[in-house]
Amino acid sequence: MRSIANERNLNSKKILLRLDLNVPIEKGKITDTTRIDKILPTLNFLKKQKAKIIIISHVGRPKGKFIKKFSLRPISESLQKKLNTEVRLIEENINKIKNKIFFKKFNEKILILENIRFYAEEEENENNFAKKIASLGDIYVNDAFSCSHRLHASIHQIPKFLPSFSGLQFDSELNALNKITSKITKPITCIIGGSKISTKINIIKNLIPKLDNIIIVGGMANNFIEYFGNNIGKSIKERNCNTLIKEIISLAIKKKCKLIYPEDVLVSKSLKGYSANKKLNQIASDEMILDIGPKTIDNIRKIIENSKTIFWNGPAGYFENPNFANGSIEIAEKIIEKNKLNKIFSVVGGGDTVSLLNNIKAVDNFNFVSTAGGAFLEYLEGKKLPGITALNSYV
Ligand code: 3PG
Repeated sequence: MRSIANERNLNSKKILLRLDLNVPIEKGKITDTTRIDKILPTLNFLKKQKAKIIIISHVGRPKGKFIKKFSLRPISESLQKKLNTEVRLIEENINKIKNKIFFKKFNEKILILENIRFYAEEEENENNFAKKIASLGDIYVNDAFSCSHRLHASIHQIPKFLPSFSGLQFDSELNALNKITSKITKPITCIIGGSKISTKINIIKNLIPKLDNIIIVGGMANNFIEYFGNNIGKSIKERNCNTLIKEIISLAIKKKCKLIYPEDVLVSKSLKGYSANKKLNQIASDEMILDIGPKTIDNIRKIIENSKTIFWNGPAGYFENPNFANGSIEIAEKIIEKNKLNKIFSVVGGGDTVSLLNNIKAVDNFNFVSTAGGAFLEYLEGKKLPGITALNSYV
């Protein structure tokens, strides 16, 4: 895999730069800019090399349709401010676009294509779509390690058509994860939470043989709670995964990996509501689980206390409402307490987890903070990520 950091002849070259600018946006305002800030060194490096940059990114999961709230406009405005350079958002349909509209203005340096997931072809990993995008540039750079587990056109197909490189942030994420996985000390605990259940539930099975404890919190825990015969009301859950849960449980027993899921929870009737503490058998049909309860927190604290390595991906609850942030904050505080004593090696990953840690100003208290969530877990799992395979295989 070649890194763009080692390239020098980039003057006037058009770089198609795949980034992960999937930042949280509420009512048109970015609420956490970590993923933008982390990518500034790459953009500054390319600017210094006098390259012309065409940024490709997604936000959210618009599933092939234009949805205004997923527009990259707030991101292009934020980049423009942070880089003190004009960043033009290209809203024209990529399939019909003519190359001459690019860099037509004198001294134009940075363009950003509108959300790549507004096109169904992106998630379909469509060859001609990738070819069309590739025709807009001279070089492709993947600086979106956190999207490299996706078999999508802008990650997996474009490198077929252009000389392709990894970016600076990609290199640092990969180097750190390589170092971490080669120097791991047992007992190893992985905390998996967040709301992207479908991405993560399949990963658990492959992680079991490598870990001593897996703590399941967040949306995925709801599936386990329901599996054990409890009503989970209106809580989010993944459909049709009881067979998978059964397999996960029996494999965990076989491999002596302890599975921990909530024994009490905080619920509410709405995302904006107040919290009520409930035992698992007390959840009403019009309630949803939004955080872990105090008994669960105590149990998790004990497991962290006895761990030497901890991987954490995904918050324990709906931390955007402070009434449901406590579980995640308590987990963070316990890890930080052990980290300060040098008694644990801690790695945290994922957009939401990083955003939570920024909220409580704790992001510097871990050994490594990755912007990657699903990609981070799949890498731990030992899977070949399509983004890495593509950079290794093509031009
Ligand atoms: C992430 O937030 O982990 C990346 O942006 C990938 O997003 P996705 O899970 O929607 O593919």
